Amino acid sequence: MLTFALSKGRLADKILKMLKQMDLCDIEISDEDRRLVIEEGQYRFFLAKPSDVPTFVESGVADMGVVGKDTILEENRDIAEVLDLGFGKCRMCVCAKKGEGEAYKLKPNLRVATKYPNIAKEYFDTLHQNITIIKLNGSVELAAIVGLSDVIVDIVESGRTLKENGLEDVTTIHNLSARLIVNNASLKTKYDEISNIISGFKELVKE
Ligand code: PRP
Repeated sequence: MLTFALSKGRLADKILKMLKQMDLCDIEISDEDRRLVIEEGQYRFFLAKPSDVPTFVESGVADMGVVGKDTILEENRDIAEVLDLGFGKCRMCVCAKKGEGEAYKLKPNLRVATKYPNIAKEYFDTLHQNITIIKLNGSVELAAIVGLSDVIVDIVESGRTLKENGLEDVTTIHNLSARLIVNNASLKTKYDEISNIISGFKELVKE
C-alpha cells in the first residue's frame, strides 16, 4: 500500500484528478466530505493541513506528499523533494510600501512581519541584517499598512493584494510551486511503485 499526505481542498482535488488520469485511482471528494483518511485499492490518502504535510512524510506514516515549496522551505524536514509539479506558481517576496524600494536593507533592526519566520530569518541572515520577526497568521499585508512592521515577507501570486493596499514587492526570495515529496526510507523500500508514480506525474506535467 502507498500512502499520500495531501492538503485539504483544491490541491487534493487536483492531485486525485491527476492520479485518475494515470488510471491509478478514481476518488472524488465533495465539499460535504469530512473524512481525513480515504482508501481505494492499494492507495491511501491523508488529508492534512498544508504545513503538516512534510511532518507526515518525514515520519514515514505517509510515503509521499504534495505541498507548496513555501511549506518545504519553512518546515525544513528531512524529506526528498522529487518533482516540481509546475502549478500553484507564486513567489516569496520582501514587500514594502510603494516607493520605498530597497531602503529596507539599510534599516537597523528591521521589523519584518510574516507567516514564514524561518524563510525570512534565513534571507536576512544572508544580508547579515539584524531583524525582529513579527509572526502573523494571515492578512500579513496589514502589518506594513498600519506600521506594525517596516516590511513583510509573504507570498505574491497575482500581486493584487499588494496593489490594492499601496504596497509593492521589492525582492523575490524564492520562486514557489507545488512539489511532490517522498519519505527517504520509502524511496528505497518502495522504489518501483514510487518511480512509477513520479513518471506518471512527469508525463502529465509535460502536457
Ligand atoms: C496569500 C498571501 C497574500 C495573497 C497573495 O494570502 O499571503 O496575502 O495570497 O495573492 P495575490 O498576489 O494574488 O493577491 P491567503 O489568500 O493565503 O490568505 P492569508 O491572508 O490568510 O494568508
